[in-house]
Amino acid sequence: MSNRLAGQVAWISGGASGIGEATARLFANEGAAVVVADVGDADGQRIADEINSNGGNAVYTSCDVSNSEQVARSIETAVERFGGLNIVVNCAGIVHVGLLHEYSEADWDRLMGVNLKGIFFSLKHAFPHLRRNERSYMINVGSISSLVGQRATPAYTTSKGAVLSLTQSTALDYASMGLRCNCVCPGITDTPMLRKHLNTTPDPDETLRQRVRRVPMNQAMQSDEVARTIRYLACEDSAGVTGTSIVVDGGYLAAAEWDTADDAPAPGDDA
Ligand SMILES: NC(=O)c1ccc[n+]([C@@H]2O[C@H](COP(=O)([O-])OP(=O)(O)OC[C@H]3O[C@@H](n4cnc5c(N)ncnc54)[C@H](O)[C@@H]3O)[C@@H](O)[C@H]2O)c1
Repeated sequence: MSNRLAGQVAWISGGASGIGEATARLFANEGAAVVVADVGDADGQRIADEINSNGGNAVYTSCDVSNSEQVARSIETAVERFGGLNIVVNCAGIVHVGLLHEYSEADWDRLMGVNLKGIFFSLKHAFPHLRRNERSYMINVGSISSLVGQRATPAYTTSKGAVLSLTQSTALDYASMGLRCNCVCPGITDTPMLRKHLNTTPDPDETLRQRVRRVPMNQAMQSDEVARTIRYLACEDSAGVTGTSIVVDGGYLAAAEWDTADDAPAPGDDA
């Protein structure tokens, strides 16, 4: 434990699972007081309890990020409980699979409500507290689909593209007020969200193997790997970095095409 986040208070949406959970645990290990804000009440409470019994400082709040009042209440809890707020991590996210013409208006609105409007609400309700600090941090979790398209998830990719745009605009508007705002764009990451998606296919393990063939590092990212990039952006290790995105994807976006199973020798390879 490096105590990089000692004295900081972090509000983490989606903290009850996957990347958000890994971030909550890592931040607590680094000395931050952590508010886990999620709709997964049982998991969120368990994670906060585990952090507390390991000597950390955490509280769980039941909070649907698409609901402005609930976000306001959750952020108030952070401030009342821990005396302020320094870091906001927007990690809550959902996916809806289908072609756009098959979507209902409610499907579209629900996804945009969680993935995008939730970030607006977090800034709206957190900023009055963040502005009291000399420095504060917002990290929005986008995706590789913030940068490229992806099949059969049109609202998701649109929301994630917008997460990056919103990150850039937020960085500009609040830079003079001490807030740095950045985006982390994970590639294929082994979380309950990914597993749920894989489990809709006949052979989930085979589907994952096939998907990671497209990844030069030939592996899915782990939540903790993404969490460590989020931590970098949540402290002065990243001083001067704002309005940008960091991709954590094992090289996925670096290659126009890739197949790890392709064992053809590379040009200049003597083998
Ligand atoms: N897993 C991947 O491959 C991957 C890739 C790129 C980006 N991401 C992004 O990373 C973030 C975390 O995803 P994950 O893979 O850890 O998923 P996950 O499903 O494991 O965790 C998401 C969390 O968000 C919570 N959540 C959902 N709706 C909510 C709401 N309305 N209010 C509050 N919380 C809500 C869920 O309960 C869950 O705890 C998401 O924004 C996702 O889009 C994931």
